Amino acid sequence: MILALWAAGCSSDAGAPVTTNAVVCNALPPLAPKATYTVGFSQLWEPPGNPWRETNTASFQDEAAARGWTLVYDPGTNGDSGAAVARVQALIDAKVDAIVLAPHDETTIAPSVVAARKACIPVFIEDRSVDTTIAIPGIDYVSNIGSDFRKEGESTADWLIAKTGGQAKIIEIEGTVGSSPAVLRKQGFDARIAAQPGMSILVSQSGDFVQQKGHDVALQLIPAYPTATVIFSHNDAMSMGVIQAMTELGKVPGRDLLIVSIDGIRAATQAIIDGKIGEVTECNPKFGPIVFDTMVKYANGETIPLELKNVDRVFDSTNAATYLPESY
Ligand code: AHR
Repeated sequence: MILALWAAGCSSDAGAPVTTNAVVCNALPPLAPKATYTVGFSQLWEPPGNPWRETNTASFQDEAAARGWTLVYDPGTNGDSGAAVARVQALIDAKVDAIVLAPHDETTIAPSVVAARKACIPVFIEDRSVDTTIAIPGIDYVSNIGSDFRKEGESTADWLIAKTGGQAKIIEIEGTVGSSPAVLRKQGFDARIAAQPGMSILVSQSGDFVQQKGHDVALQLIPAYPTATVIFSHNDAMSMGVIQAMTELGKVPGRDLLIVSIDGIRAATQAIIDGKIGEVTECNPKFGPIVFDTMVKYANGETIPLELKNVDRVFDSTNAATYLPESY
């Protein structure tokens, strides 16, 4: 047993003399080929009500059920980082075959990825990313399967540049501080806008990817920046809050301010059709099938890329009605 684990980069302790029978993996743990797996799912916690997160979770539940695999999933009850770390530790203690992890921000949960690797449980990161100086790709986790968030920001800006002829004053409502989608969407969007002499970002503030917070930020910023012509919010849930805030302020969404957004939830797609939102860049949440396929490939000895990224679409008045039945 110990010899086999040594061959897979594992030892009975991290290089220290053997004093217990605890097994420690010093490199990427293997996954045995099996007919079924018990997979621990560590979903980040967000206030309920964001269809993106609910669809993301359902994608893993449905895919596990379709394959006859067991998904061990504790949704948690709050965003406390200690509780998130404890939920991953519970999966490690339960000795699940593999862990699928969606990180809230880049740093908080990264040491838990290292802890899972040491406990010889392969980790597959989905949706967001971890700080790769703490959890090293190809050593601490197998792959990061998600969206190209920077490209999402760029493509939102590109649509806006074409639509406005390069003339806009923008309010930006960012996602969760320190999370990879917020950081990268902002980088991609802001860089494109900075290259346009007729466009500027008047103010940029976090709404934490939450509808109510998006509403509250918009309610405060719209009157404070009366020359604004555009609101870019980093996800659809916050854009729904922006629409609500504009209505409360007596403004007409889509006429008084052009809204651009990211995700592709049904309410936002309908808002495009209704003329309230100009454009939504897709962020597809349905990662269950590709993550579980990747797990099987890994168990079969295939080389897995350290990153697997979605190709996302752009929705506006030209194609929103076609996309609507597929939206969630
Ligand atoms: O990480 C993806 C983002 O997280 C989605 O855009 C958002 O809706 C969710 O909160």
